[in-house]
Amino acid sequence: MTAGTDSLTLPRADDFHVHLRQDNMMKRVVPRLRGGGIGRCLVMPNVQPPVTTTTDAIAYRDSLKAIDPRVEYLMTLYLTPALSPNDIRGAAEAGITGVKLYPRGVTTHSDEGIDDLEPLMPVFAAMEEEGVVLEVHPESPSDPDRDVCIMNAEEDFLPKIGHVHATFPGLRIVVEHVTTAGAVAFVERLGDTVAATVTAHHLDLIIDDWAGRNHNYCKPVAKYPHDRDALRRVVRDGHPSFFLGSDSAPHPRQAKECASGCAGVFTSPLLLAYIADTFERLDMLDRLESFVSEYGRQFYELPPSSESVTITRRKQVVPDAYGSAVPYRAGETLNWSISPV
Ligand code: NCD
Ligand code: ZN
Repeated sequence: MTAGTDSLTLPRADDFHVHLRQDNMMKRVVPRLRGGGIGRCLVMPNVQPPVTTTTDAIAYRDSLKAIDPRVEYLMTLYLTPALSPNDIRGAAEAGITGVKLYPRGVTTHSDEGIDDLEPLMPVFAAMEEEGVVLEVHPESPSDPDRDVCIMNAEEDFLPKIGHVHATFPGLRIVVEHVTTAGAVAFVERLGDTVAATVTAHHLDLIIDDWAGRNHNYCKPVAKYPHDRDALRRVVRDGHPSFFLGSDSAPHPRQAKECASGCAGVFTSPLLLAYIADTFERLDMLDRLESFVSEYGRQFYELPPSSESVTITRRKQVVPDAYGSAVPYRAGETLNWSISPV
């Protein structure tokens, strides 16, 4: 898989962070997963109302399976102050993979999230015991009095994760969609129970690419060139704690193209093509397979995919929209295509 390679065949990808939505948007997005090269995915629980119970999660998984049963859906619960250690034991027994922590108010549908981690310590203890993974949206709410804004909100939140890790070193924690050199260094420093997901778009974008361009606006926002360099460097190094979580987050066009646009970049339908395009540009195609189908499933203690997917050097133009959702890099040409769906 060196420069000049014309096709790559690899196990179907695992996407360890995806928003599959509900109702009409779900019906549009789920049939596109396999076309993006994905075989298995970790489904985010921030639908409305959020997926807060095991019963909700199983019902949600059933509705996803009814749309495309070929994809494996790993489910998460939305962490609210009401979740108990007993709920965790029930979730583990039912095969729920993770619990997602949203600090309250920092992103789309996070209003039921968490203000204070201390009361949740018994929940984290149960998760450590049961092997349920904690996925964290690592951002502090903006607070002008503390000089916290969306550019430094990620680094500001990291000590809180450090505290949970120090208290429960056996709890597997994923620092989701890392965007800063600080977060990369933080995860590199910790042991093998702490990992990070990296999106396709954060390997491409910096602040200039989203300021004024709503379709590139997501939370956490893309940061400075040196931050993007840190992400690229750690993925190029092949660090096994850094793996794919697309954070593909579709919104209807009118919710993005307006004065106060929703956060979210939509990448699922062409996910591996975007990644191959970027990895080739960065001369690191040889890192693609481990990034998309090995390191993540090792961290999540899952078997390799038994199905393969092929990425071929064949140009394609990114569609203007899938239904009402505008994909990442709409109208641009990618050098790679994916088969079979
Ligand atoms: C996500 C969404 O739209 O649900 N948006 C985003 O910008 N990434 C929520 C999230 O993961 O932060
Ligand atoms: Zn997300």
